[in-house]
Amino acid sequence: MNSSAPPSTLPGIPPATSPGATPLITARDLHLAFGLTEALRGVDLTIRSGEILAIMGPSGSGKSTLLHILAGVLVPDRGSVVYNGQRISTMNEAERARLRLAEFGFVFQFGQLLPDLSALDNVSIPLLLGGMSRREALARSEELLGSFGLSSCKDKRPPQLSGGQAQRVALARALVAGPRVLFADEPTGSLDSLSSEQVMEMLAATVRGFGVTLVVVTHDARTAAYADREVIVRDGQIRSGFEL
Ligand SMILES: Nc1ncnc2c1ncn2[C@@H]1O[C@H](COP(=O)(O)OP(=O)(O)OP(=O)(O)O)[C@@H](O)[C@H]1O
Ligand SMILES: [Mg+2]
Repeated sequence: MNSSAPPSTLPGIPPATSPGATPLITARDLHLAFGLTEALRGVDLTIRSGEILAIMGPSGSGKSTLLHILAGVLVPDRGSVVYNGQRISTMNEAERARLRLAEFGFVFQFGQLLPDLSALDNVSIPLLLGGMSRREALARSEELLGSFGLSSCKDKRPPQLSGGQAQRVALARALVAGPRVLFADEPTGSLDSLSSEQVMEMLAATVRGFGVTLVVVTHDARTAAYADREVIVRDGQIRSGFEL
């Protein structure tokens, strides 16, 4: 279990609201092919504000492709994604980049931290990109690292961290700018079961505490167990979904 409680405040976003019935992301009839490979073949999905949604399914079924379309990283060949009243799927690259920076956070299987920067500098990147002064960005990042139980790691570079510590730093980086939605692709995929549990505890407690919507792709039933709802993708389509 974690030695630390989740943060009591997260810069930039208002405190908790309970998961509502309000749709935050509505995807309709998503299709995307890579050459002859039809990665998505008609996906409909509605994500409610504040919920934790797990996306599961076999390797190659289209989970990462779906996550990337929902997050405005990839554009579908057909179909639409509406986020908070804005149609992401027809925005141009610059508009999507602005939206991602302002509203979304990302965590991947391998933290993708910059290896030559300290943990603290890594966490501060989204704030600096958002135009915050370095002094304030570092102060906020340090506070968040502290609340994640990572104060002693702040000056270390990623190669000097354990896998679990590196993922928690990546989590802090994804959350520091106060995103409304966190997209996570196999965030515990490279961790042992104890570290996975610690990362998921922290992730779930933090997003629930602040009403952040979490969309998490995972193969791992223990990771999915933290979700409110699960959908299963097979052959580019959603084959089943249920409340957990
Ligand atoms: N950039 C790409 N170029 C070509 N084919 C791709 C590309 N990205 C994905 N694909 C193909 O699209 C299909 C869906 O891939 P996707 O990465 O979404 O699967 P996944 O469910 O995330 O798999 P995994 O669990 O292994 O990560 C696969 O057949 C994959 O090979
Ligand atoms: Mg994938």
